[in-house]
Amino acid sequence: MKLCIIGSGYVGLVSGACFADVGHQVICVDNNQRKVEMLLRGEIPIYEPGLEELVLKNVAARRLKFTTSTEEGVDGADVVFIAVPTPPQPDGSVDLSYIEQVAREIAAVLKKDQYRVIVDKSTVPVKTGEKVADTIRRYSKPGVVFDVVSNPEFLREGCAVPDLMKPDRIVIGGNSERAVAMMQKIYEPFMAPVLVTDVNSAELIKHAANSFLALKISYINAVARICEASGADVEKVADGIGMDRRIGRNFLNAGIGYGGSCFPKDIAAFIAISDHLGEPFHLLKEVQRINAQQRERFIDRLRDKLWVLRDKRVAVWGLTFKPDTDDVRSSVAIDVVRDLIAEKALVTVFDPKGMEKAVEFKLIEGAHLATSALEAVKDADALVIATEWKEFSAVDFARVKELMHTPLIFDGRNLLEPAMVRALGFDYTSIGRA
Ligand code: UGA
Repeated sequence: MKLCIIGSGYVGLVSGACFADVGHQVICVDNNQRKVEMLLRGEIPIYEPGLEELVLKNVAARRLKFTTSTEEGVDGADVVFIAVPTPPQPDGSVDLSYIEQVAREIAAVLKKDQYRVIVDKSTVPVKTGEKVADTIRRYSKPGVVFDVVSNPEFLREGCAVPDLMKPDRIVIGGNSERAVAMMQKIYEPFMAPVLVTDVNSAELIKHAANSFLALKISYINAVARICEASGADVEKVADGIGMDRRIGRNFLNAGIGYGGSCFPKDIAAFIAISDHLGEPFHLLKEVQRINAQQRERFIDRLRDKLWVLRDKRVAVWGLTFKPDTDDVRSSVAIDVVRDLIAEKALVTVFDPKGMEKAVEFKLIEGAHLATSALEAVKDADALVIATEWKEFSAVDFARVKELMHTPLIFDGRNLLEPAMVRALGFDYTSIGRA
């Protein structure tokens, strides 16, 4: 099928590449000329394992194109996906101005008697589909025929390509049989379970799913506190409850809290949506509170051990909001670095992929930059592990101990084996483990 995807960020670009890879003709539209020029040169603006190969392969096969022109994109497409950002506003509610703008741009180029399906893939509040349909109706020529569908995306950064190619489920929210049938045809090659719903339910599924995952994380973090107070081990507790198939072990890793461009924003949005609908979701406010406290408690424990943070040399491993990505947006690791700098600690950071963006966005001003994990720990009074990159667990810890001034490790992601580091003589603190 002929598909147009408006917005070439994480969701748009990865979806476009995957749709092309299963045989569809895809044109990706982005209003950022620099980004489109990069893509046309074969350069990928984001780091995502497997994405570069996929894009290059499908561009070469002439199934994947890029343009800055909405008209060019929409003109030749049967289905138009909207995958533009829906950033948070200061009160937590969602800024839908990009969606509204794209809806108007699409409306302006729709032609009479050419049926189009307009699909919302961005994460949006329930009832946005109705607004998109109203907007297109209002700004298009008479006689234009279209349907609006909600098709939320569940990919995770760092494994976006496999998540998209082999999804747990595909949610298609549509109120028209014709549109739903076209969507089912697009997804046929993926051979994944498809759930068809009305538009409102599909929109709600996305916020409810992300909020539930965040709830699981805050739940295990609250359990971790009880483990710390009682001498139990949160990893064992998570294994024990996770072996119940009704619960599952995923998203039960205790740590310094969830971050990234999705969970914090989506939980805040779901709270704002429920408030707006007159059904305040107090449980989610507690999820947010526990999450914020995890980092504060971690810094408190570091401060307790070092007594004063001022002028102490602290090495921080990890800046990205999770491993296998270069994304540093709303990263708890960055917040930790900033907290330490605010207390006048002398911070040296290292991250395998996140350094460039952290510097570019001026997120870690005042921190020293190391070129390796070992360089970061030189003369340090403490080492903080803020992101669980696999390569950190493979570092030679005997060498780390030689390089550090005092052998203190604060593992905010339970990456290391306590017995291993303690045997080397480290004073080791982690989350929810004695
Ligand atoms: C999340 C969802 O997992 C995706 O399904 C969804 O499509 C995406 O948001 C989105 O809305 O676009 P993502 O933000 O890429 O994906 O990352 P996750 O792997 O979910 O991790 C989010 C945060 O939770 C990270 O900071 C991670 O460190 C933290 N986390 C995750 C924990 O603290 N503990 C866990 O057990 C799991």
